[in-house]
Amino acid sequence: MTERQSHPDLNSDFKNPEDWLNPQKLAAIFGPHADKNGDNTEGARIFIGIAGGIAVYKVCTVVSRLAQAGAQVTVAMTESATRFVSPLTFQALSGNPVYTSPWEHLESSDPQHISLADRSDAVLIAPCTMNSLASIVHGQTDSVVTLILSAIDRKTTPVLIAPAMNDSMWTQPANQRNIKLAQDDGNIIVGPGSGWQACRHDGTGRMSEPEDLIQALALALHL
Ligand SMILES: Cc1cc2nc3c(=O)[nH]c(=O)nc-3n(C[C@H](O)[C@H](O)[C@H](O)COP(=O)(O)O)c2cc1C
Repeated sequence: MTERQSHPDLNSDFKNPEDWLNPQKLAAIFGPHADKNGDNTEGARIFIGIAGGIAVYKVCTVVSRLAQAGAQVTVAMTESATRFVSPLTFQALSGNPVYTSPWEHLESSDPQHISLADRSDAVLIAPCTMNSLASIVHGQTDSVVTLILSAIDRKTTPVLIAPAMNDSMWTQPANQRNIKLAQDDGNIIVGPGSGWQACRHDGTGRMSEPEDLIQALALALHL
């Protein structure tokens, strides 16, 4: 992970939740800036893995605001995720190609999942489905998202997981076991929240809001 040297005042600059959606304020954390030696750093390299849940639409805001703030955002989507929002949307918002298969964008000598993992300052999996969570904690690499994640070194790169699912799926013993395993393995679980769900239930399992996801990423980068 590249050490980021900016020191925004998290107390005064980010008093209100909507401040975490303000690209000008976010630029101090995620954008290019001069480090303590006066050298210019590049924008933070954020990898966002998207799994197939209805909350994919909320991640459009996350990608857009981070890109506007000057972050270098790379998106990968599971096959299921592409059924909710087109990869083209994330390509346009991030300004970068979107990975939807392990077999695309193969760079000469460097398998894409290794090079992407190596060059990420922080990782966010959002929404993380019950299925993708199970894959992650059991070391399965059955989608491009879980494959890239399998090559991330948790000791140097923070991995944030934002679960999103129906309240019955969230409380399933298998899912709760997997959340515990994910935490034990060093992943940071963000949310989920409670309230109205797309399945017309009121309960726990809705994905955290974009401002909460960006705040969690900012805090992880400043550890
Ligand atoms: C309309 C619809 C909405 C869904 N929403 C969710 C969801 O919010 N969370 C979840 O865990 N699974 C959800 N699923 C099920 C997943 O898409 C399914 O388990 C899929 O295999 C996940 O694959 P992935 O983890 O590779 O993306 C939904 C399925 C459909 C058809």
